[in-house]
Amino acid sequence: MNFEFYNPTRLIFGAGSLNRLGEIVKEKGSRALLVIGGGSVKRNGTFQRAVTSLEQTGVTVVECSGIEPNPRITSVARGAQIAREENCDVIVALGGGSTMDASKVIAAAALYHGDPWDLIGHGQEDWVIPTKALPVVTIPTLAATGSEMNAAAVISNEETKIKSFVQSDALYPTAAVVDPELTLTVPQDQTAYGVCDIIVHVTEAYFNGIDGTPIQDHFAEGIILNTIEYGKRAVADGNDLEARAQLQWASILALNGFMAAGMNPAGFPVHMIEHAISAHHDITHGAGLAIVNPAWMKFAANHRPTKFVQFAERIFGLQAKSNDDMDCALAGIAAYEEFLKSIGCPTRLKEVGIGDELLAQYAEDSALVLRDGEGKLLSRPAMSKDDIVTVLKTAL
Ligand code: NZQ
Ligand code: ZN
Repeated sequence: MNFEFYNPTRLIFGAGSLNRLGEIVKEKGSRALLVIGGGSVKRNGTFQRAVTSLEQTGVTVVECSGIEPNPRITSVARGAQIAREENCDVIVALGGGSTMDASKVIAAAALYHGDPWDLIGHGQEDWVIPTKALPVVTIPTLAATGSEMNAAAVISNEETKIKSFVQSDALYPTAAVVDPELTLTVPQDQTAYGVCDIIVHVTEAYFNGIDGTPIQDHFAEGIILNTIEYGKRAVADGNDLEARAQLQWASILALNGFMAAGMNPAGFPVHMIEHAISAHHDITHGAGLAIVNPAWMKFAANHRPTKFVQFAERIFGLQAKSNDDMDCALAGIAAYEEFLKSIGCPTRLKEVGIGDELLAQYAEDSALVLRDGEGKLLSRPAMSKDDIVTVLKTAL
């Protein structure tokens, strides 16, 4: 193993921690752009609690509301303009991954005078990766993306139908205030999609990583097992605070860099394919992953059966006849798919109203950024456009 690990985000975790928001933001600025989504935080009272905590410490609040799920670059541009006009010196992201991602890019775009889309990698020659951004404090209200403690953001361009990402050390939130109580109101379907997203963040590293990572493997399997156990509980009873807290912690651990340290995954193929699909159809990220991941796993298992046998044995307690027993590998994937169905996730494109018309287009768009010298999508194994279409056909 050969790796570097870095994550500077201060984490404040626990029920009730929202009350400390003002104290934490005050250390970074005195005029906050408070970024929110479509209004759930207003309906459930979280917004007012955040404003009160900020104002009690003397932080002035400027509101930027209306960030959509699958956040648009136009919303980022609007937020950056407000931040500049209002002289905000800190960005506070209160919401799900969409709000947090938009906030990170707003923080960078506020200090960049070109087109904010330049900051998102979409195959352009001169990708402007941000080197500076206003400080961002995240307060996740949904356990899913891990955006609260990582340096990535995913933004959609409605005009070009491209959904893509940026990742830069400048985008690490300075602090994450993670209060599981804020997730008690997440509806059942979004809870399930979040569970799926957390697990796929782990499997992307686990299946696409290098061989010989025993500590990370056990860590990854622990996160998956925990997410299955507490995910079922949170889906069954949204008021189960213990389950909500476990999911919030899993969401962070799955994608703050620590779990994957040393695994050096070849790519994040299931995400790249899902992003290409949701750019065209605006489906929920976690639901799209529930469709693509089992199909991708069936493809990848042929190339690396031992890792899929390990998954089947350690996650679902199956018994393999040998360490490359394909029947066992496939049974593990089937058990995973059954779990997804049991919590209410779709596992076929037709369930979300998508047919086969644009499969070649998704394949093309998937490999816009994370591709090898031959234009193949980075993955283990690397995927040609035909491979991607084949995988998607099994997901129809
Ligand atoms: O917009 P509001 O009204 O707040 O409602 C949201 C939205 O409709 C609702 N919601 C959130 N918290 C709630 C709540 N409803 C009731 N009570 C609460 N406490 O849930 C809906 C979905 O919200 P969204 O933020 O879109 O969900 P999620 O957290 O799953 O974020 C998805 C976005 O993150 C990107 C995805 O591609 C997608 O654009 N990702 C970001 C990553 C990152 N930064 O590292 C990695 C991920 O793999 C992912 O790609
Ligand atoms: Zn994801």
